[in-house]
Amino acid sequence: EKGGFDHFMLKEIYEQPRSIKDCMRGRIYPEEGKVQLGGIKEFAEKLKNIDRIIIVACGTSWHAGLVGEYLIEEYARIPVEVEYASEFRYRNPIITEKDVVIAISQSGETADTMAAIEMAKERGATIFGICNVAGASIPRLTHAGVYTHAGPEIGVASTKAFTAQVTVLTLMAFYMAQQKGTITTSKLIELLTELDHIPEKIQVALESNDLVKEVAEKIKDSTNCLFLGRGSGFPVALEGALKLKEISYIHAEGYPAAEMKHGPIALIDEEMPVVFIATQNSSYEKVISNIQEVKARKGKVIAIVTQGDTEVKKMADYCIEIPDAKEAFLPLLATIPLQLLSYHIAVMRGCNVDQPRNLAKSVTVE
Ligand code: M6R
Repeated sequence: EKGGFDHFMLKEIYEQPRSIKDCMRGRIYPEEGKVQLGGIKEFAEKLKNIDRIIIVACGTSWHAGLVGEYLIEEYARIPVEVEYASEFRYRNPIITEKDVVIAISQSGETADTMAAIEMAKERGATIFGICNVAGASIPRLTHAGVYTHAGPEIGVASTKAFTAQVTVLTLMAFYMAQQKGTITTSKLIELLTELDHIPEKIQVALESNDLVKEVAEKIKDSTNCLFLGRGSGFPVALEGALKLKEISYIHAEGYPAAEMKHGPIALIDEEMPVVFIATQNSSYEKVISNIQEVKARKGKVIAIVTQGDTEVKKMADYCIEIPDAKEAFLPLLATIPLQLLSYHIAVMRGCNVDQPRNLAKSVTVE
């Protein structure tokens, strides 16, 4: 049932070119520059006039929400807040009938996310769900929603569900932009044409596996690890850190790269591996100076870079290449080597990759 792979997690990592394709099927029309989301179609008019979106989720789904925030604000120009469901539900938040709440959950059974939905619903908000498990509790609680269609995810560490959530949020951002008129058809044609080819680029990103394994070998005995990124690379860093701590039990933290100098820099010495999302996008130059700061303190730099990069290669101890893509799609690609990295480290440390200690696939208690 593991399809020839040693673990479900690895199988699910390798399924991503297909799962993302499934997630987009029937929803994007690159030639026409059109996105169709049947699940939220009846709210198409409402989307033209919403003042604010609140995203609620936990864990990895919350990280997907942070990527969604970048995309929705960038393309649809709607302000977005991303909240941990557990904090949101107990904070007496300000919610009005004009708000749209998007709840993200792989399992559709997470107790805190369900409670957040119920509260927002009582206060009159419109609730959309982004779920993987059809017919689960969350899709039944929401007014409308979009399934991720990633297929069953068995590994406790979420991988293909995360990239499918990010894909749905990308589609939602484009859909809302289309409804609001904040994007031109020609721009949408350009974006959707590239999005359509992202599964192939993910396939290429997976080819870094052997190199990632070598890097894993070098850092597997570390006790700490930092993950740094900027822009939408920041949630990718958070997700890389969560994956590593969850399955390898190495203490890891994700930070926005520019925050390093406000504290975490004190941790850096020759024992500290620092993983950078250093792809060629709008924050490239800034990330390069952050890498220099780490190197000056003898930290070990592992960088996720754009294919053909030469600048970062001069500084980093290890570079892992991913295919070039528009900034909007970088989280989908940069996540892949980080999933592989945590997987190999966990295997090398003899950890139970698919069922890490103290964790369950869905957290149905608050
Ligand atoms: O099923 P959900 O997406 O609601 O689950 C939320 C978190 O419990 C989940 O993402 C958790 O953080 C994963 N184990 C991360 O890999």
